[in-house]
Amino acid sequence: MQPLEGKKIVLGISGGIAAYKCAELTRRLSERGAQVKVVMTKAAKEFITPLTMQAVSGQPVSESLLDPAAEASMGHIEIAKWADLVLLAPATADLIARMAAGMGNDLLTTVVLATDAPVAVAPAMNQQMYKNVATQENIATLQRRGMTIWGPASGEQACGDIGAGRMLEPMQLVERCIAQFQPKLLQGKKIAITAGPTQEAIDPVRFISNHSSGKMGYALAEQAARLGAEVTLISGPVNLATPANVTRVNVLSAEEMHHAAMEQAPLSDVFIGCAAVADYRPAEIADQKMKKVDGSDELVVRMVKNPDIIAGVASLKQNRPFTVGFAAETQDVEKYAMDKLSRKNLDLICANDVSQAGIGFNSNDNALNLYWPNGQKNFPLASKQALAQSILEQINELTQ
Ligand code: PMT
Repeated sequence: MQPLEGKKIVLGISGGIAAYKCAELTRRLSERGAQVKVVMTKAAKEFITPLTMQAVSGQPVSESLLDPAAEASMGHIEIAKWADLVLLAPATADLIARMAAGMGNDLLTTVVLATDAPVAVAPAMNQQMYKNVATQENIATLQRRGMTIWGPASGEQACGDIGAGRMLEPMQLVERCIAQFQPKLLQGKKIAITAGPTQEAIDPVRFISNHSSGKMGYALAEQAARLGAEVTLISGPVNLATPANVTRVNVLSAEEMHHAAMEQAPLSDVFIGCAAVADYRPAEIADQKMKKVDGSDELVVRMVKNPDIIAGVASLKQNRPFTVGFAAETQDVEKYAMDKLSRKNLDLICANDVSQAGIGFNSNDNALNLYWPNGQKNFPLASKQALAQSILEQINELTQ
C-alpha cells in the first residue's frame, strides 16, 4: 500500500517563483497514492498555468471564488471539507500575511478559513522578506493557531540573494506529508539511536574504522521521528543527510560516542545501539604523521579495549531506557546474538548475518532476527526503512 493511499490533499499555490516546482510536487504526491486538488491564487497563474496543474493532478483546478460554474461543481466549502490536509506551497509573504489577518479575499484563503483539516505552510520568499519582523510575527501567529510551518530552506535564491527563504524541495514536502499521516505510535517517546562507524585515530591522518554506512541507524531515526518520537541520533562519520525532525550529535571515536550516549540514555525512553563501534582503539595516538621505519617491514599498533557503550547504557541503575542492541554476525547468528542479549543485559537484540551479500553493512536492504528474553521474530529481506518500521513496532509492543 502506498504511504498516501486515499489521502486527500489540497495543494494551495500562491504567486512565487517556486510555484514551478508544484508540478513535480503534485506528481510525487499522486505517485504515493494521494488525491491532489489544486487551488491557485491569481498571482500563482503568472508562474505556472492551471492547465499544467490540471494535467498533473488529473483534477480541475480551482482558481476563483467568484466563478459560479466552478463554485457549482465544487465550492470553497466543499473543497475545505474534502481535504485531509491543506498544503500551502509556495506560501508567499503576502499569503502568510493575509492568513495571519484572517482574510478570506480569494478562494485559497477562504478554503483555509473553512477547513478543519491540518494546514501546513511552506514559506517561499526573498530572505530579507522572510527575516522581516512582520513576516516573522505573521508566521508565529499561524503557528500559535496550530498551523505547521515546513521550512523554509536556506541557500541561493532566484533573485541572487543567499539566505533562508527557499521553499523545501518537492520530495522533502512529500516526506512531511507522509509523516503527517503516519499513525503516531511513538508520540511522547524519547529515543536515542547510535548509527554509523567509529573512527579510531592512529595518527593525525590515519584511523581504523569499518564499512558501516549509517543507513540502518538513519532509517531507524527517520521512521521513529515519523512515528512521533523525539529522536536524538548519535552519529559516527557518514555521508547521509539528517532525517527531518531529528536532532543529530556528531561523533568520531568510540569514546566520543560513549560520552554522548551516556549523556542521552538517561534522558531517553528507548536507546538503540545500531552503530558499528570499534571494539579496540590504538593505545597511543601519534602527535605527528607516523613515518616508515627503515629496515623493518612491520608496524605493530598496540590496541586497547573501547568502552562497551550499549552494556554501559543497559547497566544504568537510574533512568535506564529500554535498551536495544544489534548483533553483526558472520556465523552462528542465533547463538552469538542470544549470548550478547544476556551478557550485555539487553531488552532486545536485532541480529543480522553480515556474511551474506546484499544485506548488513553498506546496503539498502537487510534481513533481521529479533530476540528478546521471552520471544523472537524473523524479518526476511526488506528495505532498511521497512525493517526500521518493524523494529519500532516491536519495541512499541514490548514497552506497553
Ligand atoms: O550502517 P549500515 O551500513 O546500514 O550497516 C548496518 C549495520 C550492519 C552496522 C547494523 O545493522 C549493525 O549490525 N550494527 C551493529 C554492528 C556491531 O558493531 O555489532 P556487534 O555485534 O559488534 O556489537 C553488538 C552491539 O554492541 C551493537 O549494538 C553495538 O552497537 C554495541 N557495541 C559494540 C561495541 C562497543 N564497544 N560498544 C557497543 O555499544
